[in-house]
Amino acid sequence: MSFAKYKSNIENGDTVMLYLGFDNMHTLVIKDGDTFQTRYGALRHSHLIGKQYGSRVYCKKGYLYVLHPTPELWTVNLPHRTQILYSTDISFITMQLDLRPGSIVVESGTGSGSLSHSIIRTIAPTGHLHTFEFHDQRAKVAAEEFDIHGISEYVTVTHRDVCQDGFQLDHIADAVFLDLPKPWEVIDSAKGALKHQGGRICSFSPCIEQVQRTCNTLTSNGFVELKTFECLLRNHDVRTVNLPLPDLGPSDLVLHDGSVTINSSTDNGKQNDITEETDTGTESEKTDKDFIDANCLKTESEEQIVDTSDKSKRKIDSNDLRDSNSDTKRPRFDKLKLQNTRHDFDLIGCKDDKSFFFKTSAPTLQMPGHTGFLTFATLYHSN
Ligand SMILES: C[S@@+](CC[C@H](N)C(=O)[O-])C[C@H]1O[C@@H](n2cnc3c(N)ncnc32)[C@H](O)[C@@H]1O
Repeated sequence: MSFAKYKSNIENGDTVMLYLGFDNMHTLVIKDGDTFQTRYGALRHSHLIGKQYGSRVYCKKGYLYVLHPTPELWTVNLPHRTQILYSTDISFITMQLDLRPGSIVVESGTGSGSLSHSIIRTIAPTGHLHTFEFHDQRAKVAAEEFDIHGISEYVTVTHRDVCQDGFQLDHIADAVFLDLPKPWEVIDSAKGALKHQGGRICSFSPCIEQVQRTCNTLTSNGFVELKTFECLLRNHDVRTVNLPLPDLGPSDLVLHDGSVTINSSTDNGKQNDITEETDTGTESEKTDKDFIDANCLKTESEEQIVDTSDKSKRKIDSNDLRDSNSDTKRPRFDKLKLQNTRHDFDLIGCKDDKSFFFKTSAPTLQMPGHTGFLTFATLYHSN
């Protein structure tokens, strides 16, 4: 098992992720003969050996999934020894540093190894990560974890104070990542670690004063294209809203310019009060059409095709009394289709004859806020 390579079946000694729910996961190192207690009952490790990753596994009172480890799952399950970087920032860092298989990366500090796991997965199998940590125990534990996770061949962990002693790497790196209290103290050394043709640097700092100082030092060291970002995650909860079906008498509902208006039939079947538009095939109408197709609505011209094919099933409503020469297309609620749509996975439909539901989403009230600023810069040439 390796965080950088995938395989199908679980073996003794593998690190696996037990998924009992979105906020209930466990990391487990498989040891034949051991037992792990879950909220669904005991799970014998031997029961997992030979099973396919991704399998559903039954305990006495329920089931769980046994997943192949990934850096993303590790990030949400790892034992915290420090503050860590999460996948929102990590994915942005990976893209902005232009990391790929074969990249040589320098990182400090290693901390809990959250970012390190993702970097390694990205740069393997031909790249290498040089990670520096001045806390003795943290450096040791990180190296042990890389070993257990089958990725030690892609990483060198060095126990060192980089602010004091620098990286001592001579023009080998494509990218440098700094998560340090005083990143400006190592920028000169980072420049020496970057390849002669230059490369990218990123510094993560929680405070804007740190960012300002880092930017000044980057500029004075010849780095250009400085950009600072803050990644904020915005979660949305999917909700089902139930509303009573409006009783509008003999009239129909007409979707008009994105809003619902009443299609009154009092004028002997002639439309009043509605500005009609011909189908010119503009972009905005296409968007309306997509919405209509996806949401139980249909345009009048579509309805006419239905009507001519089976007159006996024709539904009499206000629109049937309209001028048949009209070439206009107006989206209308297809009540019948709406009422036949009762499934939970539908976006819009009726659960009974009196109300209808639609799926929508709203941002959650509590969301993770500021973690830090990410400052990126480029060096085009390093002497
Ligand atoms: C916030 S943690 C890094 C977390 C890491 N990015 C992760 O995702 O798990 C910062 C680490 O930098 C280390 N550190 C601080 N100053 C250092 C220095 N001068 N040299 C090396 N490591 C240092 C700290 O010991 C700490 O473990």
